[in-house]
Amino acid sequence: MKLNIACIPGDGIGPEIVAQAKKILDRIADVYGHEIKYTDLLMGGAAIDVHGVPLTEETIEMAKAADCVLMGSIGGNTATSPWYKLAPNLRPEAGLLALRKALNLFANLRPAVLYDELADACPLKKEISQAGFDMVIVRELTGGLYFGERYTTQEGGVRKAVDTLTYNENEIHRIAKKGFEIAMKRRKKVTSVDKANVLDSSRLWRKVVEEVAADYPEVILEHMLVDNCAMQLVKNPAQFDVILTENMFGDILSDEASMVTGSIGMLSSASLNDSKFGLYEPSHGSAPDIAGKDIANPVATILSAAMMLRFSFDLDREADAVEKAVKDILKKGYRTPDIMSEGCRLVGCKEMGDLLADE
Ligand code: NAI
Ligand code: MG
Repeated sequence: MKLNIACIPGDGIGPEIVAQAKKILDRIADVYGHEIKYTDLLMGGAAIDVHGVPLTEETIEMAKAADCVLMGSIGGNTATSPWYKLAPNLRPEAGLLALRKALNLFANLRPAVLYDELADACPLKKEISQAGFDMVIVRELTGGLYFGERYTTQEGGVRKAVDTLTYNENEIHRIAKKGFEIAMKRRKKVTSVDKANVLDSSRLWRKVVEEVAADYPEVILEHMLVDNCAMQLVKNPAQFDVILTENMFGDILSDEASMVTGSIGMLSSASLNDSKFGLYEPSHGSAPDIAGKDIANPVATILSAAMMLRFSFDLDREADAVEKAVKDILKKGYRTPDIMSEGCRLVGCKEMGDLLADE
């Protein structure tokens, strides 16, 4: 198969971690007989350096022309970087928001996985009765409260601010369909999270999710109110397979779920549209505090590349191989500093990439 991948290394640790992900993809291509063409693109601080803006039209067009985008992270060390001094009003992260919008990436997937080997790092290790958990949050990314009309006004001398939360049935339908399709590739359980006891948008959400569920009889659907979900994520995260939810609830719950694992360097993410196109990136940022030191954990980016193989190319066997390599390397006791514990072997970013490629 020919894989046409647009690559955005970005800022900070971005270039280091993307180099490791490419290493793994190249090995996969060798072993399974695929051909990969990378197109490297500039975005964020790296683009401001060269073009004076975080994202150019040309970059958007080149990203659209690829099968998918693999990204490192965006965001420079604004206090020290020379480009920020040149252009103090430009935010490198604005490039990422504009690119997500231009590519219509309405579905955000954030897996939260706790590996048995890393259970000691989990802040809830005492509370979790079963060892480990493995869930994915499917969050609507281009609608709801963050995209509604908003304004601030005065009424009788009193300041007032208004935000509006709107969803139409088409927006709910397409994200629900995505959630059920993902569940079909996993343990076949969807927990749809809303606030249907209060909000009209949530009542429509629940109705449309039930309509979509009718097309997936093998998948078990349950509904959960968002406040209860926040509690259940801490109490018993192992109960979840796919959490399907709207934009703001998903924003908050996915940060909560990721912290329950205790290791941001392990957490991947994908943003998808209606077709097979997706943007794959680690959940973390550009970590300027550790950039250039060869100590960043490349696993989040490598697992994002595995999601890319699965969702953009339907290469399940290859994605499984990458995910299994991560588990096996952890089992063998190799750790980057962020996940280091007693008795394990400390390795750097590049060495972790080499070990995973060989595994
Ligand atoms: P961050 O995620 O970059 O770093 C938070 C902490 O986690 C730091 O101590 C960092 O060293 C550590 N860390 C992050 N990734 C790691 C990895 N792979 N291995 C080991 N340790 C890791 O968040 P922060 O510091 O709030 O933001 C830094 C910059 O990144 C900012 O400019 C922010 O806007 C940007 N950012 C970009 C995102 C993106 O590209 N999607 C997402 C989040 C933040
Ligand atoms: Mg957030």
